[in-house]
Amino acid sequence: MTLLPGDGIGPEVAEATVRAVEATGVAIRWERVELTGRIIEQCGEDVPPAVLESLSRTRVGLKGPVTTPVAGGFQSVNVALRKKLDLFANVRPVRRLPGLRTRFADTRIDLVIFRENTEDLYAGLEHEVVKDVVTSLKVITRAASERIARYTFEQARRSGRKKVTAVHKANIMKLGDGLFLRCCREVAAHYPEIQYNELIVDNAAMQLVLRPESFDVLLMPNLYGDIVSDLAAGLVGGLGVVPGANMGDDCAVFEAVHGSAPDIAGKGIANPTALMLSAALMLSHLGEAQAAARLQGAVERVYATGRCLTPDVGGTATTTEFTDAVVDALS
Ligand code: NAI
Ligand code: MG
Repeated sequence: MTLLPGDGIGPEVAEATVRAVEATGVAIRWERVELTGRIIEQCGEDVPPAVLESLSRTRVGLKGPVTTPVAGGFQSVNVALRKKLDLFANVRPVRRLPGLRTRFADTRIDLVIFRENTEDLYAGLEHEVVKDVVTSLKVITRAASERIARYTFEQARRSGRKKVTAVHKANIMKLGDGLFLRCCREVAAHYPEIQYNELIVDNAAMQLVLRPESFDVLLMPNLYGDIVSDLAAGLVGGLGVVPGANMGDDCAVFEAVHGSAPDIAGKGIANPTALMLSAALMLSHLGEAQAAARLQGAVERVYATGRCLTPDVGGTATTTEFTDAVVDALS
């Protein structure tokens, strides 16, 4: 198991998560590999070789966030890692935790976002044509679109989900998003038991806020998936509580939706819930279903008591106090 604590709040939530996973009793040998801005600049590559070497061997990683400089500096290592390891599906289950008070306290929110994870505008192909004129290439291929659509429907079938909504802007990007949509429709036709519909992304954003309970599975290209993930996190209490998984055929890297949260890094108040729930997804993936359920259950019990919660979800506890409560709930 590769553990990439990352930077910002990464090391804080990673340590908390390791404690919680160990409290489940499952024996995991963590291989800690540093992945920070400093390391990336030192190695001069998109992804430090030690990170790729470890993940190619262990095939499973738990990852904290890594800061990416804005408007300049090195390319996002998070995006580069997904591409290098071909982690084509980004899966983010968005659920309201029991007892957590949010604006949607009376609404049942239980949806899963499937985001294509390797192309779209994240291809990072930008070019200054002449001074002050820049083009950013949006790459959409049949291969990647079909693959994410197939993966989504297959997972939806396995988990007994009822409806898949493809999100797009094919009214404007008729070719690119049009191709994505065509692939979704073709795949959907093989799953008659699953209801399929489509929404233009701006309308999808509004419907999510107005009627989050009407969504089940969301299927989207990379950029919309990124944006809609944070929006959906906002429906259930924020980025502190939403886990995720980057899935490939040969490798899987589990990480929260959130970034390195520089505004609270080092203060000891980061919420480790999102990474703990990501670790629960990881345990399931490793065939440790019981440990996964115990970890998930322990986190839910702490939320249900409403005590020992971190400030982002309305409490006053530190990262350590919350983690102590989860560890207690496990023992
Ligand atoms: P962010 O997700 O780091 O933070 C957004 C807001 O949510 C902040 O107010 C932050 O304090 C809060 N927040 C996030 N996670 C939290 C947690 N666990 N507990 C409590 N509060 C939490 O997004 P931002 O500020 O836009 O990005 C910061 C850096 O993170 C950027 O350099 C960005 O590139 C990077 N990033 C990295 C990702 C990754 O490693 N996969 C994903 C997203 C962003
Ligand atoms: Mg994001």
